Amino acid sequence: PSPTVYKIAAIPGDGIGVDITEAAEQVLDTLAATNGTFKFEYTTFDWSSKAYKERGWYMQDDWEAQLKKHDAIYFGAVGWPDVPDHISLWSMILPIRNTMNQYVNVRPTRILKGTTAPLAQLQKTPSELDWVIVRENSEGEYAGQGGTTHAHGPNAIATEVAIFTRVGIERIMRFAFETAKSRPRRKLTMVTKSNAQRHGMVLWDKVFYDVAKEYEGVVEFDKMLVDAMTVRMVNKPESLDTIVATNLHADILSDLAAALAGSIGIAPSSNLDPTRSCPSMFEPIHGSAPDIAGKGIANPIGAFWSAAEMVRWVGKGELDAVADQFMQAIENVTGNPKTRTRDMGGSAGTTEVTEAVCREIERVC
Ligand code: NAI
Ligand code: MG
Repeated sequence: PSPTVYKIAAIPGDGIGVDITEAAEQVLDTLAATNGTFKFEYTTFDWSSKAYKERGWYMQDDWEAQLKKHDAIYFGAVGWPDVPDHISLWSMILPIRNTMNQYVNVRPTRILKGTTAPLAQLQKTPSELDWVIVRENSEGEYAGQGGTTHAHGPNAIATEVAIFTRVGIERIMRFAFETAKSRPRRKLTMVTKSNAQRHGMVLWDKVFYDVAKEYEGVVEFDKMLVDAMTVRMVNKPESLDTIVATNLHADILSDLAAALAGSIGIAPSSNLDPTRSCPSMFEPIHGSAPDIAGKGIANPIGAFWSAAEMVRWVGKGELDAVADQFMQAIENVTGNPKTRTRDMGGSAGTTEVTEAVCREIERVC
């Protein structure tokens, strides 16, 4: 039988986004060729801050229809010093997440083999830091509501309104409980700030406990205030498993998680439309890293882990074993001191790590 074709919209974007997207495609193609039952076809979109500076726009007017022709979106990073970050973010990544119904952002964190994490000394068993952060990805603090009055004077006023809806909270809580239920420890921690923020956050808590009733005895759950959560993540990482938090809180906590696990360069994220009515989007959590762009030293591991999550998603359960083997190949490479990038204490470049992962895939997959 001919291989199943998965159509991927590739958006490399800016800076190291370009290097790591290219590396991810090379690794995915090696995986597909080694396996033989599927392959990837990419459409590459030149949507970036560089292009914006030249032509005045990021995406074509019909971007939505273009993206919808694909099974998934692979995203590098967007943002460059000569374009204000709120413009780049609101011209591309946020409209895509919102319009493509990607209301869940999933950010797994583990200490990969070979990482010298700040918490590595705490590590007694591999499960000591093994988390999935489920981030609300469609509303909350990043809903985009608000405005500015008297912008340029001493009386400037700006509001930034966080939006919480029952529908939005309920669907993220359900996804988080299902995620927790599917993991061995069956444990969910809900993050909030309902002591100081007494409207939206209180609704957030209430809906959590409503949904929790359906999981009584199936998933163990608890609640943390976000400030105390940062302390628990550092001091008692083994007490956490699945974590659900708002758009802003989870954004911050997942960067902390990535740093605790060793480097922001290894952390993946999936922007999911669980209804599968639109393509989901996979991207490493790091940005365009202007400080190292063009030097060939970007760590591609976060990009590969994101690609593995994409394989899992497009496979709808059929490619889970392939994704696991892919992760094994990645960890064999991070486990080898010769094939680690600088942020992981090694001296290998992006190309060397990519080649090493391809050779491992050919060996283990
Ligand atoms: P960043 O993630 O680009 O970089 C932070 C630090 O981590 C830098 O020192 C960088 O060199 C290092 N780093 C990041 N990824 C790495 C990798 N793969 N290998 C080795 N080192 C790595 O965050 P920053 O500097 O705050 O933002 C730079 C630009 O990226 C901004 O324009 C920002 O808006 C944008 N950005 C875009 C994101 C996206 O597209 N989803 C996410 C975060 C930032
Ligand atoms: Mg972030």
